[in-house]
Amino acid sequence: MKFPEGFIWGTASAAHQVEGNDTNCDWWEWEKSKEENKRQFPLDPSELACDFYHRYEEDFDLCKQLNNNGVRISLAWNRIEPEQGKFDKGEIEHYKKVFHEAKKKGLKVFLTLQHFTLPLWFVGMGGWSNIKSPHIFADFAERSAREFEGFVDTYFTINEPQVYALMAYTNGTWPPNKKNYFLSLLVQINLLRAHCLAYKRMKIITKNPIGIVKNIVWYEPHPTEGTLLDKVAAKIIFFLNCDFFLWPLRKCTDTLGLNFYFTTRLKKLKVKNLDDVISDLGWWVNPASLEKILLHLKKYKIPIYVTENGIADARDTLRKKFLTEMLLSCYKSISKGVNLKGYFYWSLTDNYEWHQGFWPRFGLVGIDYEHNLKRKPRNSFYYYAKICSSNEIVLNNE
Ligand code: BGC
Repeated sequence: MKFPEGFIWGTASAAHQVEGNDTNCDWWEWEKSKEENKRQFPLDPSELACDFYHRYEEDFDLCKQLNNNGVRISLAWNRIEPEQGKFDKGEIEHYKKVFHEAKKKGLKVFLTLQHFTLPLWFVGMGGWSNIKSPHIFADFAERSAREFEGFVDTYFTINEPQVYALMAYTNGTWPPNKKNYFLSLLVQINLLRAHCLAYKRMKIITKNPIGIVKNIVWYEPHPTEGTLLDKVAAKIIFFLNCDFFLWPLRKCTDTLGLNFYFTTRLKKLKVKNLDDVISDLGWWVNPASLEKILLHLKKYKIPIYVTENGIADARDTLRKKFLTEMLLSCYKSISKGVNLKGYFYWSLTDNYEWHQGFWPRFGLVGIDYEHNLKRKPRNSFYYYAKICSSNEIVLNNE
């Protein structure tokens, strides 16, 4: 099953999860707050993470070995703008070097401007709940576009705005650990405004596509035991995590990044998933839903990238099948007319999985945290490399 000519094959990561020593942001502070008993989870502090900040050349070599032609990485806003309105030249130069190195290795750069973590000064102003936050973010976005124009091929403004609102303002799991529905909605509205404002300001500077990255969960009634009520509920919840957010920004986005991890089946309004394929995190893997979501997104008539899709699988026993089936869903959606332009596996290397710490292993490449962060490609790494070089998937070729 051949993918279209020029299809982008890549991996994705985010600054805080891989760079290391990403100080001066809300997560770093939260991770360090053990003594004050502020941590609600047994998370590890991110510390040196994978030291991607210094080892990016080595990691882009791995991307090259994967026969990738694209890479998705993110900026650490707190590094670039450590104080409001003050931009750090050294850090800007650092990121230019990183992008240059990616390009040298034949990788198109897909850049996320904001991936969950926030500068402390921004948090001090109320973060995304501040009514002015969209303007503040747009300043940073505009400056980033101006600095990095010529290095970046596709920009994504914000990663998973609704996941952020849910984890930080509804569940209270992530900093600022709030449980407040009103604030959560306000934050979603501000993130939406922030994207559109940034889009307009960046558009003046760049001709390259600008999009947003959205995590979308597929909801469906249980196939045999779901009721009519489950069917209606699934439709409503799917709407809330998809079109409710995407429809208002359809006029200010050139492309859409889809992060896909979950399917939720409802039975009597309770979650009733199968447990046939379960990741180390206990997440049910159901690749068929990826095709359903992609077909649903077709109506937006803009190019789509799967900007994240991956599995925590330390023993690497599920990953090859996971890749084959997810890519089969991608292939089918393309043959049904979806303008899918690329696929980024999450993630190149194991990394810092937020409040879970380091134990979930999403990487095609394992990281030996005990031994100088040594990179060790897993079997699935070579499998994905074959797919990327041939631009096709072959069923039962394991
Ligand atoms: C996030 C990543 C995260 C991944 C796996 C996505 O929601 O964008 O930062 O590591 O899921 O949990």
